[in-house]
Amino acid sequence: MSTLSDREYAQRRQRLMGAVEADAVLLVPAATLKYRNRDAEYGFRQNSDFLYLTGFNEPDALLVLLPGKSGGEVVLFCQPRDPEKEVWTGYRPGPEGAMQRFGMDRAFSLEQLDDELPQLLQGRSRIYCPLADETLQGRLAGWRQRLMQRCRDAQQVPQQLQELGGPLHELRLFKTAAEQALIRASGELSAQAHCRAMRACRPGLYEYQLEAEIHHQFAMGGSRVPAYGTIVGSGANGCILHYTQNQDRLEAGELVLIDAGAELEGYAGDITRTFPVNGRFSDRQRALYEVVLAAQEAAIAAVQPGNSFNAPHEAAVAVLTEGLVRLGLLEGEVDALLAEEAYTAFYIHRTSHWLGLDVHDVGAYRRDGQWRNLEPGMVLTIEPGLYIAPDDERVDPAWRGMGIRIEDDLLVTGSGHEVLTAGVPKAVAAIEALMAEGRA
Ligand code: GLY
Ligand code: MN
Ligand code: MN
Repeated sequence: MSTLSDREYAQRRQRLMGAVEADAVLLVPAATLKYRNRDAEYGFRQNSDFLYLTGFNEPDALLVLLPGKSGGEVVLFCQPRDPEKEVWTGYRPGPEGAMQRFGMDRAFSLEQLDDELPQLLQGRSRIYCPLADETLQGRLAGWRQRLMQRCRDAQQVPQQLQELGGPLHELRLFKTAAEQALIRASGELSAQAHCRAMRACRPGLYEYQLEAEIHHQFAMGGSRVPAYGTIVGSGANGCILHYTQNQDRLEAGELVLIDAGAELEGYAGDITRTFPVNGRFSDRQRALYEVVLAAQEAAIAAVQPGNSFNAPHEAAVAVLTEGLVRLGLLEGEVDALLAEEAYTAFYIHRTSHWLGLDVHDVGAYRRDGQWRNLEPGMVLTIEPGLYIAPDDERVDPAWRGMGIRIEDDLLVTGSGHEVLTAGVPKAVAAIEALMAEGRA
Protein backbone atom coordinates (compact mmCIF):
# COMPACT_ATOMS: atom_id res chain seq x y z
CA MET A 1 0.00 0.00 0.00
CA SER A 2 1.32 3.38 -0.94
CA THR A 3 2.01 5.97 1.75
CA LEU A 4 2.01 8.71 -0.89
CA SER A 5 -0.98 11.03 -0.67
CA ASP A 6 -3.85 11.12 -3.16
CA ARG A 7 -2.79 14.68 -3.79
CA GLU A 8 0.70 13.54 -4.86
CA TYR A 9 -0.77 11.21 -7.49
CA ALA A 10 -3.31 13.82 -8.62
CA GLN A 11 -0.53 16.38 -9.04
CA ARG A 12 1.54 13.97 -11.12
CA ARG A 13 -1.42 13.35 -13.44
CA GLN A 14 -2.12 17.08 -13.65
CA ARG A 15 1.49 17.86 -14.52
CA LEU A 16 1.50 15.21 -17.23
CA MET A 17 -1.78 16.43 -18.71
CA GLY A 18 -0.40 19.98 -18.59
CA ALA A 19 2.67 18.88 -20.54
CA VAL A 20 0.74 17.67 -23.60
CA GLU A 21 -1.77 19.17 -26.03
CA ALA A 22 -5.26 19.81 -24.61
CA ASP A 23 -6.79 17.59 -27.31
CA ALA A 24 -4.47 14.63 -26.72
CA VAL A 25 -5.34 11.42 -24.89
CA LEU A 26 -2.86 9.35 -22.87
CA LEU A 27 -3.09 5.58 -22.44
CA VAL A 28 -1.02 4.03 -19.66
CA PRO A 29 -1.27 0.24 -19.28
CA ALA A 30 -0.53 -1.67 -16.08
CA ALA A 31 1.80 -4.68 -16.11
CA THR A 32 0.50 -8.19 -16.81
CA LEU A 33 1.07 -11.27 -14.66
CA LYS A 34 3.63 -13.68 -16.07
CA TYR A 35 3.59 -17.40 -15.44
CA ARG A 36 6.64 -19.40 -14.31
CA ASN A 37 4.93 -22.67 -15.15
CA ARG A 38 1.35 -23.94 -15.28
CA ASP A 39 -0.62 -21.76 -12.83
CA ALA A 40 2.30 -20.51 -10.71
CA GLU A 41 3.06 -16.88 -11.32
CA TYR A 42 6.21 -14.79 -11.05
CA GLY A 43 5.93 -12.15 -8.34
CA PHE A 44 3.90 -9.25 -9.68
CA ARG A 45 5.64 -5.91 -10.15
CA GLN A 46 3.53 -3.04 -11.40
CA ASN A 47 4.61 -1.10 -14.48
CA SER A 48 6.52 1.93 -13.16
CA ASP A 49 4.76 4.49 -15.40
CA PHE A 50 1.37 3.19 -14.29
CA LEU A 51 2.43 3.02 -10.63
CA TYR A 52 3.78 6.58 -10.79
CA LEU A 53 0.42 7.91 -11.96
CA THR A 54 -1.97 5.78 -9.89
CA GLY A 55 -0.43 3.88 -6.94
CA PHE A 56 -2.82 1.13 -8.11
CA ASN A 57 -1.19 -2.27 -7.84
CA GLU A 58 -3.33 -4.57 -9.99
CA PRO A 59 -2.35 -6.26 -13.23
CA ASP A 60 -3.99 -5.55 -16.61
CA ALA A 61 -5.58 -2.20 -15.71
CA LEU A 62 -5.53 0.72 -18.13
CA LEU A 63 -5.33 4.40 -17.18
CA VAL A 64 -6.77 6.93 -19.61
CA LEU A 65 -5.93 10.60 -19.14
CA LEU A 66 -8.04 13.13 -20.98
CA PRO A 67 -6.54 16.61 -20.72
CA GLY A 68 -8.95 19.49 -21.11
CA LYS A 69 -10.85 22.17 -19.30
CA SER A 70 -11.02 22.18 -15.51
CA GLY A 71 -8.09 19.81 -15.10
CA GLY A 72 -9.17 17.16 -17.57
CA GLU A 73 -10.50 13.73 -16.70
CA VAL A 74 -8.94 10.59 -15.27
CA VAL A 75 -10.46 7.22 -16.19
CA LEU A 76 -9.42 3.74 -15.07
CA PHE A 77 -10.32 0.32 -16.41
CA CYS A 78 -9.69 -2.44 -13.86
CA GLN A 79 -10.80 -5.88 -12.71
CA PRO A 80 -14.39 -5.89 -11.46
CA ARG A 81 -15.25 -7.03 -7.96
CA ASP A 82 -15.75 -10.80 -8.02
CA PRO A 83 -16.47 -12.44 -4.66
CA GLU A 84 -15.73 -15.93 -5.99
CA LYS A 85 -12.35 -15.01 -7.42
CA GLU A 86 -11.52 -12.83 -4.44
CA VAL A 87 -11.76 -15.94 -2.24
CA TRP A 88 -8.74 -17.25 -4.18
CA THR A 89 -6.72 -14.16 -4.93
CA GLY A 90 -7.80 -11.55 -2.41
CA TYR A 91 -9.65 -8.27 -2.33
CA ARG A 92 -9.97 -6.08 -5.41
CA PRO A 93 -11.08 -2.46 -5.19
CA GLY A 94 -13.06 -2.74 -8.44
CA PRO A 95 -14.19 0.36 -10.34
CA GLU A 96 -16.06 1.74 -7.30
CA GLY A 97 -12.97 1.44 -5.10
CA ALA A 98 -10.85 3.01 -7.85
CA MET A 99 -13.08 6.09 -7.77
CA GLN A 100 -13.45 6.26 -4.00
CA ARG A 101 -9.90 5.43 -2.96
CA PHE A 102 -7.65 6.17 -5.95
CA GLY A 103 -9.01 9.51 -7.09
CA MET A 104 -10.38 8.37 -10.46
CA ASP A 105 -13.10 10.54 -11.99
CA ARG A 106 -14.63 7.53 -13.72
CA ALA A 107 -13.81 3.83 -13.63
CA PHE A 108 -15.04 0.84 -15.57
CA SER A 109 -14.63 -2.89 -15.50
CA LEU A 110 -12.05 -4.24 -17.96
CA GLU A 111 -14.92 -6.10 -19.61
CA GLN A 112 -16.22 -2.71 -20.81
CA LEU A 113 -12.95 -1.67 -22.38
CA ASP A 114 -13.79 -2.40 -26.03
CA ASP A 115 -17.15 -0.64 -25.72
CA GLU A 116 -16.02 2.44 -23.81
CA LEU A 117 -12.54 3.16 -25.07
CA PRO A 118 -13.41 4.19 -28.65
CA GLN A 119 -15.66 6.94 -27.27
CA LEU A 120 -12.86 8.26 -25.09
CA LEU A 121 -10.67 8.60 -28.19
CA GLN A 122 -13.32 10.47 -30.16
CA GLY A 123 -12.31 13.97 -31.26
CA ARG A 124 -8.79 13.72 -29.87
CA SER A 125 -5.96 14.53 -32.27
CA ARG A 126 -3.18 12.38 -30.91
CA ILE A 127 -2.64 9.44 -28.62
CA TYR A 128 0.30 9.17 -26.24
CA CYS A 129 1.01 5.55 -25.37
CA PRO A 130 3.94 3.13 -25.09
CA LEU A 131 4.73 2.42 -28.74
CA ALA A 132 6.67 -0.76 -27.95
CA ASP A 133 3.67 -2.37 -26.21
CA GLU A 134 2.50 -4.68 -28.99
CA THR A 135 -0.60 -5.88 -27.15
CA LEU A 136 -1.79 -2.34 -26.58
CA GLN A 137 -0.96 -1.34 -30.16
CA GLY A 138 -3.02 -4.27 -31.47
CA ARG A 139 -6.02 -3.29 -29.35
CA LEU A 140 -5.63 0.35 -30.24
CA ALA A 141 -5.90 -0.45 -33.94
CA GLY A 142 -9.21 -2.18 -33.17
CA TRP A 143 -10.53 0.77 -31.10
CA ARG A 144 -9.65 3.26 -33.82
CA GLN A 145 -11.37 1.08 -36.40
CA ARG A 146 -14.52 0.85 -34.25
CA LEU A 147 -14.55 4.58 -33.80
CA MET A 148 -14.22 5.07 -37.55
CA GLN A 149 -17.14 2.70 -38.15
CA ARG A 150 -19.21 4.40 -35.52
CA CYS A 151 -18.81 8.02 -36.58
CA ARG A 152 -17.69 7.70 -40.23
CA ASP A 153 -15.61 10.83 -39.87
CA ALA A 154 -11.83 10.52 -39.98
CA GLN A 155 -11.56 13.89 -38.15
CA GLN A 156 -13.02 12.23 -35.08
CA VAL A 157 -10.33 9.51 -35.02
CA PRO A 158 -6.93 10.40 -33.55
CA GLN A 159 -4.42 10.56 -36.39
CA GLN A 160 -1.14 10.68 -34.51
CA LEU A 161 0.55 8.23 -32.19
CA GLN A 162 3.27 9.50 -29.89
CA GLU A 163 5.56 7.87 -27.37
CA LEU A 164 4.17 8.33 -23.85
CA GLY A 165 7.69 8.26 -22.45
CA GLY A 166 8.53 11.63 -24.03
CA PRO A 167 6.54 13.80 -21.61
CA LEU A 168 6.13 11.24 -18.81
CA HIS A 169 9.77 10.28 -18.37
CA GLU A 170 10.85 13.90 -18.26
CA LEU A 171 8.47 14.33 -15.30
CA ARG A 172 9.71 11.16 -13.60
CA LEU A 173 13.31 12.39 -13.86
CA PHE A 174 12.63 15.21 -11.37
CA LYS A 175 11.76 13.70 -8.02
CA THR A 176 9.16 15.39 -5.83
CA ALA A 177 9.86 15.88 -2.12
CA ALA A 178 7.77 12.77 -1.35
CA GLU A 179 9.76 10.71 -3.85
CA GLN A 180 13.04 12.01 -2.48
CA ALA A 181 11.96 10.87 0.98
CA LEU A 182 11.18 7.36 -0.30
CA ILE A 183 14.46 7.05 -2.24
CA ARG A 184 16.31 8.30 0.85
CA ALA A 185 14.56 5.64 2.96
CA SER A 186 15.38 2.99 0.39
CA GLY A 187 19.02 4.12 0.37
CA GLU A 188 19.20 4.01 4.18
CA LEU A 189 17.70 0.52 4.31
CA SER A 190 20.01 -0.68 1.54
CA ALA A 191 22.97 0.70 3.50
CA GLN A 192 21.85 -1.17 6.64
CA ALA A 193 21.68 -4.38 4.63
CA HIS A 194 25.21 -3.93 3.29
CA CYS A 195 26.44 -3.31 6.86
CA ARG A 196 24.76 -6.56 7.94
CA ALA A 197 26.48 -8.46 5.13
CA MET A 198 29.87 -7.01 6.09
CA ARG A 199 29.37 -8.05 9.70
CA ALA A 200 28.20 -11.55 8.72
CA CYS A 201 30.89 -12.23 6.13
CA ARG A 202 33.44 -14.96 6.78
CA PRO A 203 35.29 -17.56 4.71
CA GLY A 204 33.28 -20.73 4.08
CA LEU A 205 29.92 -19.03 3.64
CA TYR A 206 28.35 -19.21 0.20
CA GLU A 207 27.57 -16.16 -1.88
CA TYR A 208 23.83 -16.88 -1.63
CA GLN A 209 24.13 -16.88 2.15
CA LEU A 210 25.43 -13.30 2.09
CA GLU A 211 22.58 -12.55 -0.30
CA ALA A 212 20.20 -13.94 2.35
CA GLU A 213 21.68 -11.58 4.96
CA ILE A 214 20.98 -8.68 2.63
CA HIS A 215 17.43 -9.81 1.85
CA HIS A 216 16.70 -10.46 5.53
CA GLN A 217 17.57 -6.87 6.37
CA PHE A 218 15.49 -5.58 3.45
CA ALA A 219 12.46 -7.48 4.72
CA MET A 220 12.97 -6.41 8.33
CA GLY A 221 13.09 -2.82 7.10
CA GLY A 222 9.85 -3.08 5.12
CA SER A 223 11.10 -4.07 1.67
CA ARG A 224 9.69 -7.39 0.52
CA VAL A 225 11.59 -7.54 -2.76
CA PRO A 226 14.92 -6.16 -3.90
CA ALA A 227 14.96 -3.47 -6.58
CA TYR A 228 16.93 -5.78 -8.91
CA GLY A 229 18.70 -9.13 -8.82
CA THR A 230 21.23 -9.03 -5.97
CA ILE A 231 24.83 -9.54 -7.06
CA VAL A 232 27.23 -11.28 -4.66
CA GLY A 233 30.43 -12.01 -6.53
CA SER A 234 33.48 -13.29 -4.68
CA GLY A 235 36.94 -13.52 -6.22
CA ALA A 236 36.87 -13.39 -10.01
CA ASN A 237 33.03 -13.42 -9.97
CA GLY A 238 33.34 -9.76 -8.99
CA CYS A 239 34.53 -9.10 -12.56
CA ILE A 240 31.22 -10.32 -14.04
CA LEU A 241 29.13 -7.16 -14.15
CA HIS A 242 25.73 -8.83 -13.93
CA TYR A 243 26.70 -11.93 -11.94
CA THR A 244 23.58 -13.23 -10.18
CA GLN A 245 24.29 -16.96 -9.80
CA ASN A 246 25.65 -16.23 -6.30
CA GLN A 247 26.58 -19.86 -5.83
CA ASP A 248 30.28 -19.98 -4.95
CA ARG A 249 32.01 -20.40 -1.62
CA LEU A 250 33.67 -17.35 -0.12
CA GLU A 251 37.39 -17.97 0.24
CA ALA A 252 39.83 -16.19 2.56
CA GLY A 253 42.12 -13.91 0.59
CA GLU A 254 39.43 -12.95 -1.94
CA LEU A 255 37.37 -9.82 -2.25
CA VAL A 256 33.60 -10.00 -2.44
CA LEU A 257 31.53 -7.48 -4.40
CA ILE A 258 27.89 -6.95 -3.38
CA ASP A 259 25.57 -4.87 -5.54
CA ALA A 260 22.15 -4.80 -3.88
CA GLY A 261 19.32 -2.36 -3.29
CA ALA A 262 15.99 -2.47 -1.51
CA GLU A 263 12.74 -1.38 -3.10
CA LEU A 264 10.36 0.68 -0.96
CA GLU A 265 6.96 1.45 -2.49
CA GLY A 266 8.54 0.91 -5.86
CA TYR A 267 11.56 3.18 -5.26
CA ALA A 268 15.00 1.65 -5.65
CA GLY A 269 18.19 1.81 -3.68
CA ASP A 270 21.35 0.79 -5.54
CA ILE A 271 24.55 0.26 -3.56
CA THR A 272 27.76 -1.59 -4.30
CA ARG A 273 30.47 -2.32 -1.78
CA THR A 274 33.56 -4.47 -2.19
CA PHE A 275 35.37 -5.89 0.83
CA PRO A 276 37.77 -8.67 1.85
CA VAL A 277 36.16 -12.00 2.75
CA ASN A 278 38.48 -12.43 5.73
CA GLY A 279 38.04 -8.87 6.99
CA ARG A 280 41.43 -7.41 6.02
CA PHE A 281 42.50 -6.01 2.67
CA SER A 282 45.85 -7.29 1.36
CA ASP A 283 48.28 -4.57 0.25
CA ARG A 284 47.46 -5.18 -3.39
CA GLN A 285 43.70 -5.25 -2.82
CA ARG A 286 43.92 -2.06 -0.82
CA ALA A 287 46.01 -0.35 -3.50
CA LEU A 288 43.49 -1.10 -6.24
CA TYR A 289 40.52 -0.40 -3.95
CA GLU A 290 41.86 3.03 -3.03
CA VAL A 291 42.12 3.97 -6.70
CA VAL A 292 38.42 3.15 -7.17
CA LEU A 293 37.51 4.97 -3.95
CA ALA A 294 39.41 8.10 -5.00
CA ALA A 295 37.70 7.94 -8.40
CA GLN A 296 34.32 7.64 -6.71
CA GLU A 297 35.03 10.59 -4.42
CA ALA A 298 36.14 12.73 -7.38
CA ALA A 299 32.99 11.77 -9.27
CA ILE A 300 30.79 12.55 -6.25
CA ALA A 301 32.40 16.00 -5.98
CA ALA A 302 31.39 16.64 -9.59
CA VAL A 303 27.69 16.10 -8.81
CA GLN A 304 26.65 19.75 -8.75
CA PRO A 305 23.69 21.52 -10.33
CA GLY A 306 24.78 23.03 -13.63
CA ASN A 307 27.49 20.42 -14.23
CA SER A 308 27.13 18.12 -17.20
CA PHE A 309 25.74 14.63 -16.54
CA ASN A 310 29.08 13.44 -17.92
CA ALA A 311 31.22 15.46 -15.47
CA PRO A 312 31.28 12.73 -12.78
CA HIS A 313 32.28 10.12 -15.37
CA GLU A 314 35.09 12.33 -16.65
CA ALA A 315 36.31 12.94 -13.11
CA ALA A 316 36.22 9.20 -12.37
CA VAL A 317 38.11 8.05 -15.45
CA ALA A 318 40.83 10.68 -14.89
CA VAL A 319 41.49 9.35 -11.38
CA LEU A 320 41.25 5.71 -12.52
CA THR A 321 43.76 6.32 -15.29
CA GLU A 322 46.25 8.03 -12.97
CA GLY A 323 45.90 5.19 -10.49
CA LEU A 324 46.31 2.49 -13.13
CA VAL A 325 49.54 4.13 -14.29
CA ARG A 326 50.80 4.48 -10.72
CA LEU A 327 50.17 0.77 -10.07
CA GLY A 328 51.82 -0.25 -13.35
CA LEU A 329 48.61 -1.61 -14.86
CA LEU A 330 48.78 0.94 -17.69
CA GLU A 331 51.92 2.35 -19.20
CA GLY A 332 52.32 5.78 -20.76
CA GLU A 333 51.30 9.43 -20.31
CA VAL A 334 48.12 9.92 -18.32
CA ASP A 335 46.72 12.53 -20.75
CA ALA A 336 47.42 10.39 -23.81
CA LEU A 337 45.98 7.30 -22.11
CA LEU A 338 42.87 9.24 -21.14
CA ALA A 339 42.44 10.52 -24.69
CA GLU A 340 42.62 6.99 -26.06
CA GLU A 341 40.36 5.69 -23.26
CA ALA A 342 42.94 3.13 -22.22
CA TYR A 343 41.02 2.65 -18.95
CA THR A 344 38.42 0.68 -20.92
CA ALA A 345 40.75 -2.31 -20.54
CA PHE A 346 39.55 -2.43 -16.92
CA TYR A 347 36.41 -0.28 -16.82
CA ILE A 348 33.80 -0.83 -19.51
CA HIS A 349 30.65 0.60 -17.93
CA ARG A 350 29.68 4.19 -17.29
CA THR A 351 29.77 5.91 -13.90
CA SER A 352 26.12 6.92 -13.46
CA HIS A 353 22.52 6.24 -14.27
CA TRP A 354 19.29 7.84 -13.12
CA LEU A 355 17.59 6.15 -10.16
CA GLY A 356 13.94 6.12 -9.13
CA LEU A 357 11.06 3.71 -9.63
CA ASP A 358 13.33 1.81 -11.99
CA VAL A 359 16.87 1.03 -10.92
CA HIS A 360 18.04 2.24 -14.31
CA ASP A 361 15.47 4.96 -14.22
CA VAL A 362 13.87 6.74 -17.14
CA GLY A 363 14.77 10.21 -18.36
CA ALA A 364 16.85 11.43 -21.29
CA TYR A 365 20.60 11.72 -20.71
CA ARG A 366 21.15 13.99 -23.69
CA ARG A 367 19.49 16.99 -25.26
CA ASP A 368 20.12 17.64 -28.96
CA GLY A 369 22.94 15.14 -28.86
CA GLN A 370 24.71 16.83 -25.92
CA TRP A 371 24.87 15.53 -22.34
CA ARG A 372 22.29 17.43 -20.33
CA ASN A 373 23.14 19.30 -17.14
CA LEU A 374 22.39 18.10 -13.64
CA GLU A 375 19.49 19.90 -11.96
CA PRO A 376 18.03 19.84 -8.43
CA GLY A 377 15.65 16.93 -7.91
CA MET A 378 17.51 14.48 -10.14
CA VAL A 379 18.76 11.28 -8.49
CA LEU A 380 21.70 9.35 -9.91
CA THR A 381 24.24 6.72 -8.93
CA ILE A 382 28.00 7.13 -8.83
CA GLU A 383 29.60 3.74 -9.39
CA PRO A 384 33.11 3.53 -10.82
CA GLY A 385 34.92 0.21 -10.76
CA LEU A 386 37.98 -1.69 -11.93
CA TYR A 387 37.81 -5.27 -13.13
CA ILE A 388 40.90 -7.33 -13.87
CA ALA A 389 39.80 -10.51 -15.58
CA PRO A 390 41.29 -13.77 -14.28
CA ASP A 391 42.77 -14.48 -17.72
CA ASP A 392 44.08 -10.98 -18.48
CA GLU A 393 47.58 -11.71 -19.74
CA ARG A 394 48.44 -8.03 -20.10
CA VAL A 395 48.94 -7.69 -16.36
CA ASP A 396 51.02 -9.31 -13.61
CA PRO A 397 49.18 -12.49 -12.48
CA ALA A 398 49.04 -11.09 -8.94
CA TRP A 399 46.44 -8.55 -10.06
CA ARG A 400 44.20 -10.95 -11.93
CA GLY A 401 40.70 -11.89 -10.79
CA MET A 402 39.98 -8.73 -8.80
CA GLY A 403 36.69 -6.92 -9.38
CA ILE A 404 36.01 -3.74 -7.41
CA ARG A 405 33.07 -1.36 -7.64
CA ILE A 406 31.87 1.27 -5.16
CA GLU A 407 28.39 2.68 -5.71
CA ASP A 408 26.32 5.31 -3.92
CA ASP A 409 23.05 7.10 -4.69
CA LEU A 410 22.97 10.90 -4.88
CA LEU A 411 20.29 13.55 -4.96
CA VAL A 412 21.20 16.73 -6.80
CA THR A 413 20.26 19.67 -4.56
CA GLY A 414 20.18 23.43 -5.13
CA SER A 415 23.63 23.84 -3.63
CA GLY A 416 25.34 20.55 -4.48
CA HIS A 417 24.28 17.04 -3.60
CA GLU A 418 23.15 14.73 -0.84
CA VAL A 419 24.61 11.22 -0.62
CA LEU A 420 21.59 9.04 0.19
CA THR A 421 23.57 5.91 0.97
CA ALA A 422 26.23 7.21 3.35
CA GLY A 423 25.14 4.75 6.05
CA VAL A 424 27.49 2.00 4.91
CA PRO A 425 31.24 2.51 5.19
CA LYS A 426 33.57 2.56 2.21
CA ALA A 427 36.90 3.72 3.65
CA VAL A 428 39.28 0.79 4.16
CA ALA A 429 39.68 1.31 7.91
CA ALA A 430 35.94 1.74 8.46
CA ILE A 431 35.12 -1.45 6.54
CA GLU A 432 37.74 -3.42 8.44
CA ALA A 433 36.43 -2.06 11.75
CA LEU A 434 32.84 -3.03 10.94
CA MET A 435 33.89 -6.50 9.83
CA ALA A 436 35.96 -6.95 13.01
CA GLU A 437 32.87 -5.98 15.04
CA GLY A 438 30.96 -8.73 13.24
CA ARG A 439 33.60 -11.33 14.00
CA ALA A 440 33.91 -10.34 17.66
N1 GLY B 1 22.66 -2.68 -9.90
C1 GLY B 1 22.69 -2.25 -11.23
C2 GLY B 1 23.58 -1.11 -11.39
O1 GLY B 1 24.35 -0.82 -10.52
O2 GLY B 1 23.53 -0.41 -12.35
MN1 MN C 1 23.75 1.26 -10.42
MN1 MN D 1 24.20 -1.36 -8.53
